[in-house]
Amino acid sequence: MPLLNLKLSNMLFNQAVRAGEALHIDVASLPRITIKNAPVMDILRVYPQLEPVVAALSNVIPVQRKYLGLSVWSQVFEPMDTTCSDDGWHLDGRMNPDSPDYYGLICFGADGFRTMFYKGVVSAELPDTLPTTPESRRAYFQKALAHDLSDESFGFEIPNATPVGYSTFDFHKGRVAPQGGTRLFVRLAASDFIRPKRIRL
Ligand SMILES: [Fe+2]
Repeated sequence: MPLLNLKLSNMLFNQAVRAGEALHIDVASLPRITIKNAPVMDILRVYPQLEPVVAALSNVIPVQRKYLGLSVWSQVFEPMDTTCSDDGWHLDGRMNPDSPDYYGLICFGADGFRTMFYKGVVSAELPDTLPTTPESRRAYFQKALAHDLSDESFGFEIPNATPVGYSTFDFHKGRVAPQGGTRLFVRLAASDFIRPKRIRL
């Protein structure tokens, strides 16, 4: 038995969040489409209007990964709709410390519709076995943050039309729409694990 059993599994969260410069682009010129995790070049071939958006998103991703996938969500909200599948504080991707996924996202939409990121750095222990089910992941997020996962007082809403880079170790949350309206959300994902799916466009 070692006298000192040092655990090196402590992780600092929300260190990689970085905002780029606001894009001056007419959102009406962008396609109102919804495509999930498709190869970037396939989308740009059909929708070249997205080129400046993709360029801005790749500028806030500091690493190269095996796969680069693009998702676009054009959404129409009724009041109280959730803006994405998880409106609690959560992490995207596989939480793999050896090769974290990196993302760039941008929201075009009114206040209250845009993604929130956690304000401060959070330190928490990574479990030996990474949680993979939605329930076990949520239980881990709850333990790491130790407060209500819907509590927005710990976060800030990203500015309109501004690219934000983050990693799989950065807490963020979707929103509950305060009123009806529309949003265009684009996310570029660089990952060694999440392979984009080719689709017919
Ligand atoms: Fe997310």
